[in-house]
Amino acid sequence: MSTASKPVGIGIVGAGVISEIYLKNLSTMFAHMKVIGVADVLPERAEARAREFGLKAMTVDELLAHPEIELVVNLTIPAAHAEIAFRALEAGKSIYNEKPLAIEREDGRRILELAKEKGLRAGSSPDTFLGGGLQMVRKLLDEGVIGAPVAVNAALRNHGMEHWHPDPFFFFQPGAGPLFDVGVYYVTALTSLLGPFSKVAAMARASFPERTITNGPKNGEKVPVTTPTHIVSAIEFESGVIGTLTASFDVWETDYATLVIYGEKGTIRCPDPNMFGGPIYLLLKDETKWHEIPVELPNTENSRGLGAADLARAIRDGGPSRVDGELGYHVLDVMHAVLESAERGEDVAVESRVERPAPMDATAALSRSDLDHALRLKTTERLERAAESIYRDVKKMVKEKTSHHD
Ligand SMILES: NC(=O)c1ccc[n+]([C@@H]2O[C@H](COP(=O)([O-])OP(=O)(O)OC[C@H]3O[C@@H](n4cnc5c(N)ncnc54)[C@H](O)[C@@H]3O)[C@@H](O)[C@H]2O)c1
Repeated sequence: MSTASKPVGIGIVGAGVISEIYLKNLSTMFAHMKVIGVADVLPERAEARAREFGLKAMTVDELLAHPEIELVVNLTIPAAHAEIAFRALEAGKSIYNEKPLAIEREDGRRILELAKEKGLRAGSSPDTFLGGGLQMVRKLLDEGVIGAPVAVNAALRNHGMEHWHPDPFFFFQPGAGPLFDVGVYYVTALTSLLGPFSKVAAMARASFPERTITNGPKNGEKVPVTTPTHIVSAIEFESGVIGTLTASFDVWETDYATLVIYGEKGTIRCPDPNMFGGPIYLLLKDETKWHEIPVELPNTENSRGLGAADLARAIRDGGPSRVDGELGYHVLDVMHAVLESAERGEDVAVESRVERPAPMDATAALSRSDLDHALRLKTTERLERAAESIYRDVKKMVKEKTSHHD
């Protein structure tokens, strides 16, 4: 097998909660990746996951020295993201970090510089914006269904993680909190849909100084809160769009619109940016009825790993990756700017800039069903045709729904 067609060897570092879905998806969904081994600072965790998925448990050092591993998928806690990324890059491996790229801007920048110096790739999650739901929104925006975007409201509101996560300490420390842990999906989705942020003006508080775990082996333990847990920000984009971003672990809220984009000719109620699928609702100017827009693009199920798959594809074909670290860095920069603005009580300009990542297309990482289809059809050309026909149908449907309004 030539290197070009050889699957990219993957090493997973961090065998905690999220590693399960990653291992499931990376070992079944993508033909161009092969998971070689799994490591954790706690060997028993690596061994348990390795047993579950028929893999080899390794120490982090063994994994980083393994000749077949080209891409390290870093699923450790945020405080370890930078350290593992530096070690992987130094060992000659490309790196895909779970979010955030790093906790500090300096570490994020250094990861990108080191990758460049070594001729390697660095990327980071979230990858939900590559799912069918947000890609469908991208399509609606790019086709001008609501005209030029004017404004946006983004809000995640819940009462935290201590009710379900067995080890929720990191969620309430710098590097997490609602903004860095979940808001990161929103900031990434917004950047991918509307382009880079330019300025923020925020207020923030930690409404509860400690939280109590109400689940699992640590049930009853207190968790100190050392980062803001209710954050509200005005946001401005380079395009001129302005809006709001709320991120809270302090409120009881179950039924709300998480992301709404207002345009000259209508409004899109987007899917939850933390999810891969729909629903999507469209309201056109002069109308009072919302239309549900069917999501007919792939990857609407829990497709965690799509981003790593896109990076692996880019490693093989040499092209840009949709989850490039520059996007992760911009998102990190925005989140820091929000917290700094709240702390200083003044507007903060966002310094970094990034291009919107390309929309998903037929050559991007595709889900199992698309791959099966592709393998059946055998040729890329025919796969491209299949994907184009999906897009054509969606376009036709949007046109039918909107033509009488123009
Ligand atoms: N849990 C979720 O639903 C979820 C969803 C999306 C993203 N994430 C992200 O995934 C990452 C991991 O989250 P999780 O919920 O799986 O956490 P977790 O605490 O369950 O697992 C993290 C694992 O990393 C290991 N680890 C920590 N430092 C290490 C080091 N230096 N070297 C090797 N291993 C180390 C820990 O021992 C642990 O097993 C975080 O960045 C989180 O933001 C989590």
